[in-house]
Amino acid sequence: MAKLALKGGKPVREKPFPKWPVFDSRELKALKEVLESGFWGVRGKRKEEFERRFAAYQHAKYGVAVTNGTAALEISLRSLGIGCGDEVIVPSYTFIATAMAVLYVNAIPVFADIEPETYTIDPKSVESLISDKTKAILPVHIGGRPADMDALLSIAKKNNLHIVEDACQAWGAEWRGRRVGAIGDMGAFSFQSSKNITSGEGGIIVTNSKELYVKAWSLHNCGRLPQKPWYEFHLPGTNYRMTEFQAAILLVQMERFEEQTKRRMENARYLSGKLSKIDGVTPLKEDERITRHAYHLYIFKINPEAFGGASKFVIAKALQAEGIPASVGYSKPLYKEPCLEHFKKCPLSCPYYGKSVDYSSVKTPVAERACYHEGLWLPQYALLGSRDDMDDIVSAIEKVRENVEELEGD
Ligand SMILES: Cc1ncc(COP(=O)(O)O)c(C=O)c1O
Repeated sequence: MAKLALKGGKPVREKPFPKWPVFDSRELKALKEVLESGFWGVRGKRKEEFERRFAAYQHAKYGVAVTNGTAALEISLRSLGIGCGDEVIVPSYTFIATAMAVLYVNAIPVFADIEPETYTIDPKSVESLISDKTKAILPVHIGGRPADMDALLSIAKKNNLHIVEDACQAWGAEWRGRRVGAIGDMGAFSFQSSKNITSGEGGIIVTNSKELYVKAWSLHNCGRLPQKPWYEFHLPGTNYRMTEFQAAILLVQMERFEEQTKRRMENARYLSGKLSKIDGVTPLKEDERITRHAYHLYIFKINPEAFGGASKFVIAKALQAEGIPASVGYSKPLYKEPCLEHFKKCPLSCPYYGKSVDYSSVKTPVAERACYHEGLWLPQYALLGSRDDMDDIVSAIEKVRENVEELEGD
């Protein structure tokens, strides 16, 4: 009789992992207060309060709360004057929004590889891609793990480049004791529903520069300027303002955040200790410069050979059948995404750019290996579970490995 649940065997667990999102009567009360205040949108105070509190939490001076993380990235790039004819170096292992924000300001995403042991952007790859058109580096703190900010800041300084941090998965993460977001020029966060702090949708930009703050504020608010008449529009802005409902929920979500982050980190450390003992399973490397990891994702690598040649796609399915919410995560590097075709004329071969980009010749071998063969994810809410829950994850991975012959032909 088959042992693996995928083949009809008994699963390692049938009980669910902690439910996400987490909310209670505090969110309900906060929402009711907004409804009853009558200020549902632009003139309420909760958005401003959230901007102040979240920016301070990320060790930044200023915050601009917006509709989502993609908008936060786009406004950050626009605030820095990045647009037609400019190149921005992004990792190829990330969510599409990282590259899409660059394209939406008419600039060119240039895809760098990632490091094999961290899955964050590889500074050596970044350096090799710098051209006279490069204006910025857009590192992603993937899964809540800060990219190598020492190396990136030094490259940016040497080459006079901006840094926009994609911190959409990295609330509270720290590099050498400094929270991410405003380590570079500007940083973007997301509060979409899977995220560790959420209001369904939402985002924020943080920065330490007063000048960039005013630009971002204006750009997200139709081009208005803080001290000028309401019906005067100075910058090419649009409406990306966060609502009072979102801000009210986020203020409550922040109250739980420290405790949740601590729990995720403790469980992740425990899991890494156990998983590193399984042949063919490798957690991402610990780095003492990362003083806090946000663990939006727990990413680990598998060596398909140690799993009898089964693909990561089959292994993820087998783990799901055992009751573990594992997923394959990103399954192709961004430059293989079909949507890029739509930018072929503009900006990818725009006359202002003076060059033409052909993504079909791009190769980032480490990201390709991560996408096609190695990288598996566990979601952040699984790390809110108990030690027993972590032990179930370990048992399921061991079980799949030990009975891998049942997966032959899948
Ligand atoms: C790395 C990364 N960048 C950008 C975004 C975009 O955020 P949003 O979905 O809030 O627009 C996300 C979120 O999904 C993300 O994970």
